[in-house]
Amino acid sequence: MVMKTLLSVLLFGILRFPLLSISQTRDKASAVSSANQEPNPKKEEAAELRACAQMVLGGFLQVSNMRDQRFEGKVAEPTARCRGGQYAVQFRTTPWVDWSRYWGAGDSSSLPTGFLSVKGAQLRGVTGALLDLEYQRVELIKFNLFDNSGTYQNYISGSGGVTGPAVKTWPEMRLPKDNPYYLAVGGDKEQVCKGDLIRARTLTGICNDIRNPLMGSAGMPFARNVEFETTFPDVGQTTLTQNRHGGRIGLLTPDPQVISRKLFTRLQSNPASCNAGFGLPDNSLDANCDYQKAPFFNVLAAYWIQFMTHDWFSHMDEGHNAPGGYMEVGCRSKLVNNVQTSLTPDEIQKLGCRPGDEVDKTYVLSDSPPGQFTSGGRAYLTRAPKTFANNNTAWWDASQLYGYDETSLKRVKHDPQDPAKMLLELVPGKSGPGYLPILLPTDPVQPQWNGQESVAFPDNWSIGLSFLHNLFAREHNSFVDEFRRQTAQNPNADSGLRNPSDPKRVIRNKDVTPDELFNVARLVVAAEIAKIHTIEWTPQLLYNEPLYKGTNANWNGFLGPDDRDVPKALSDVMAHSLATSKNGKKETQWYSVFTSGPGIFGLGSTVSHYDITNPNDVNGGINLFGSPFNFPEEFVTVYRLHPLVPDLIEYRDVSKDPNQIVEKVPVVQTFEGKATDAMRSRGLANWGLSMGRQRLGLLTLHNDPQFLQNIRLPRLDTPTQQIDVAALDLIRDREHGVPRFNEFRRQYGLRQLTSYDDFVDETLPADSPARRQQMETVAQIREIYGTHICDSSKIITDAQRNLDGTPINDCLGHPNGSIIDNIEDVDTVVGWLGENTRPHGFAISETQFVVFILNASRRLYSDRFFTSSFRPEFYTQLGVDWVTHNGPGPQMMEVGEPNGHRQPVSPLKRVLMRNIPELTTELQQVVNAFDPWARDRGQYYSLGWKPRPDAVSDPAFKP
Ligand code: HEM
Repeated sequence: MVMKTLLSVLLFGILRFPLLSISQTRDKASAVSSANQEPNPKKEEAAELRACAQMVLGGFLQVSNMRDQRFEGKVAEPTARCRGGQYAVQFRTTPWVDWSRYWGAGDSSSLPTGFLSVKGAQLRGVTGALLDLEYQRVELIKFNLFDNSGTYQNYISGSGGVTGPAVKTWPEMRLPKDNPYYLAVGGDKEQVCKGDLIRARTLTGICNDIRNPLMGSAGMPFARNVEFETTFPDVGQTTLTQNRHGGRIGLLTPDPQVISRKLFTRLQSNPASCNAGFGLPDNSLDANCDYQKAPFFNVLAAYWIQFMTHDWFSHMDEGHNAPGGYMEVGCRSKLVNNVQTSLTPDEIQKLGCRPGDEVDKTYVLSDSPPGQFTSGGRAYLTRAPKTFANNNTAWWDASQLYGYDETSLKRVKHDPQDPAKMLLELVPGKSGPGYLPILLPTDPVQPQWNGQESVAFPDNWSIGLSFLHNLFAREHNSFVDEFRRQTAQNPNADSGLRNPSDPKRVIRNKDVTPDELFNVARLVVAAEIAKIHTIEWTPQLLYNEPLYKGTNANWNGFLGPDDRDVPKALSDVMAHSLATSKNGKKETQWYSVFTSGPGIFGLGSTVSHYDITNPNDVNGGINLFGSPFNFPEEFVTVYRLHPLVPDLIEYRDVSKDPNQIVEKVPVVQTFEGKATDAMRSRGLANWGLSMGRQRLGLLTLHNDPQFLQNIRLPRLDTPTQQIDVAALDLIRDREHGVPRFNEFRRQYGLRQLTSYDDFVDETLPADSPARRQQMETVAQIREIYGTHICDSSKIITDAQRNLDGTPINDCLGHPNGSIIDNIEDVDTVVGWLGENTRPHGFAISETQFVVFILNASRRLYSDRFFTSSFRPEFYTQLGVDWVTHNGPGPQMMEVGEPNGHRQPVSPLKRVLMRNIPELTTELQQVVNAFDPWARDRGQYYSLGWKPRPDAVSDPAFKP
């Protein structure tokens, strides 16, 4: 009964907006604006409302039971018309998702003019978009989980009377005999973590899930989000992959360096002033490297995501790939008349690539042939033909700061004066709490890291990583300081902390040991980082109203932070009803939808009579949907975001005029040890100001940094010691067997492209310069990947079908025997960079986004420290409050209502002001720390590039 009531509360919660808006606007019909017609808003509004009625009568879209009959982000005509009018209907035939053209999903121009109820249209559009996204998430959870560690057969066939998606523990996630904690968790009996192992985040990531101790720990295999049979397409494991690529692709085919030089290079108006990304002597202001800039996202955001990836995953181990020699990396061939032909020396010189470059191969965890099994009359592989280890913990545990194995731990320095703190040292001439110490020769260090700060994850060190590591080391210490302050005031007060080995004992503030406090601070910092990422970085990356609502719902829930009673009840139901169900359908289909109500963060943490010795309470808030958590290879692919980085940093001095750019510092001069020098000599505040104000690079073709194409890595014992990182992005994906772009989209439930021309944004006017530019790029793609005569007898995929239900064949809807584009061969990175049709304010493409929908949610769902263990028993009461309020004391509210929302001061803004007080004045007017700081945000999700009133003299705003 309770279930039923809650069910209707939620369904109503999701549905009520469209229904309400219909009834609100039914009597107020007005005009229209449709292509090739006189605008008549009255008619249009009336037509939309009729379409809404038709949509409602049509009932709910069923979540598909078949992989090849998915939603694909495309809706029926009445739905499109109801939610976005003629504009949404008009582009339904493109491969791109429909919701981006709904009312209110863009800037203020996405709102109708002349309608009687603009608000009604906006609600229909925005809630419609959220519904589409929720369908996608439900289907992604249902169709895209492929664990590589041996559990997949159970997932398909079920185990012990439980359907696959409802299985919750796996033998493969037990600690092996050689693990030092093997006996502590139960040895060869049932394994359940307890005592000290469950109190905080462990070094290697074991015991986050107390019944699957090994899950997410360092060294576990990367998972997949695509059918195993579709991985490693160049090997042609199946007839489908053979048919799809016709023997045309390989590790170095098409040539990755040629692709990089032709499709990734940033075009320069004055190459001499860029100097291949090396700028000019003395950081001269005359230097200039053109790059395509995102007006709503800053350089800090670029480094933030590098900082995040160093927490989540790594194919490399201690700065190296596999030992045993180097491999070539291209600059050898190009396509001539659809035949790969050697490059001439002249062509090599013109391209600027290097045939002498070589690199170490990726580490392989297992390449023995995978097992096979049949279920329901279908044959399956038990895992991908090759697997690779994630050498980091997959948890969002701030392991880049705190360590993920014994070696990295040695680089993490505690303050000897107070071991609860991170060691920071004072730097001459710099005020404040100090800077991270530098690596010592006695630390585990690779030659390329010499002179860098001592941190757990030191690889590819940059000025942005230095900034963020120093910032969060300071934040760690700020938390400890506040705890110590409160302890001094109230030594006997209950800290909230409990020890599961002695659960009744109240641990008073003064009883908390330095070790315990260090671990609590780690929990708090990791949760703050997760919160910043979820509700500050992501809504700025995806700058529109549906995503603002969606990302906040992931954290707080749709029902909002002010209405905690309903979320509490829902959260209990989630933890104790659906999440313990033995029915996989309930588990996946409804759980995700229902958690949109209370939000994921803190799920299961509010059950009454919470008992820290009861695994059902401690672990009860997580949901794994039948597949152990780790990131898939496909996730790494969509984080190859090197175009975000500019070649030159526009350096400013906070103590002088923040509106003045005083130097142009080449990013390559802030790489590895040089980052540390630059940080210490110029200081956190100046780098913060500089990176906060500068726009980052758009994720698009022709926008990779020049310096990364030419970077020198002295660790490589190769003829050039150089590497083109943009080309390497393609090679690594091919080594890891990531499907090429078109099949990648089909696997994720997005619509396929049928020609390179689909990359052109059809919503642009035919004669616009942007569209012409896109067509030129399409011609280059065609030149590189080529064409072939298609054969309609060759079926190329089982992931989707044509709209008429027939299998998709080599001709992709074109007549048999016609010449078609080799769109199937396009590398995934090339494809998603090439997507020109994107939702408003999307710094990424829709293909990348769909990967995030699934994995960003799972990163929260799977982690008990973000769900049922977000409790004072683990975090202390101060810790819980700190994460909830974005720092000490009560919640602080932002001035005004940015984009129509009353909201707390955002978490990173608070972290910055707390730990780098020199930035307070600059940050006062900033709403989101990842929006270029001096930008006037204008009205409703504007992407305009205009200065705020006190920054009109900033040259960054000059045309
Ligand atoms: C100064 C800036 C940067 C430098 C010098 C740099 C350098 C590199 C290099 C040399 C590799 C290749 C490792 C290999 O496979 O052998 C790499 C990989 C990678 N980089 Fe960057 N990078 C930078 C910024 C970024 C940023 C901003 C991102 C954004 C997320 C990023 C994401 C990645 C990812 C996802 C990989 C693959 C990692 C893996 O396979 O585990 N990088 N980078």
